[in-house]
Amino acid sequence: MAGTPGRDPRGGPGICYLLGSLMAGLLAPGAVAFNLDVMGALRKEGEPGSLFGFSVALHRQLQPRPQSWLLVGAPQALALPGQQANRTGGLFACPLSLEETDCYRVDIDRGADVQKESKENQWLGVSVRSQGPGGKIVTCAHRYEARQRVDQILETRDVIGRCFVLSQDLAIRDELDGGEWKFCEGRPQGHEQFGFCQQGTAAAFSPDSHYLLFGAPGTYNWK
Ligand SMILES: *[C@@H]1O[C@H](CO)[C@@H](O)[C@H](O)[C@H]1NC(C)=O
Repeated sequence: MAGTPGRDPRGGPGICYLLGSLMAGLLAPGAVAFNLDVMGALRKEGEPGSLFGFSVALHRQLQPRPQSWLLVGAPQALALPGQQANRTGGLFACPLSLEETDCYRVDIDRGADVQKESKENQWLGVSVRSQGPGGKIVTCAHRYEARQRVDQILETRDVIGRCFVLSQDLAIRDELDGGEWKFCEGRPQGHEQFGFCQQGTAAAFSPDSHYLLFGAPGTYNWK
């Protein structure tokens, strides 16, 4: 499920429906959704204007106890204290319950080093995928910006994008987990090379579940 950052779905009511196994997640002006299964619909609410429901994924946790989650991206969610930004986006985890307001924000992406990055409007939660029951989770911020020589004449700002991998219980547990999934960092910069990768506009696990796939539509931009 890829986002299209060009459109402006702001002002959507921030509501996400789960219809049995069928999801119609994104409500935005110009788009309509309807319920096929009105009896078994689950409804979850997020903050207005946060684009809650821009991406959704079902996930099954097995340890320490079995639990099913609806993972919801809200790429315009307000920043957390310490992220040195106004809007960063975020990932929310909702139990499969009838309660509408029991989603919590998954605790990833704390802080920011303004000498080397900017998380303002980075769109964390633009994409989210589960590897399957007991597997990993991936979510991305395709507008994450790497910076160099901040406040100097030759300052650079590269919208490389970035992804986070989480363990099956939505926590950071092993060396694969965390937010160091930035494959355009350290490569030749500039918008015509790897400086505008926008990694994570889409993300997926390969069908055999052994690989992570990332869309990076800005790589070699404007060639
Ligand atoms: C937050 O918003 C204010 C007002 O629009 C703006 O001046 C400021 O630069 C923003 N902060 C960041 C980190 O971009």
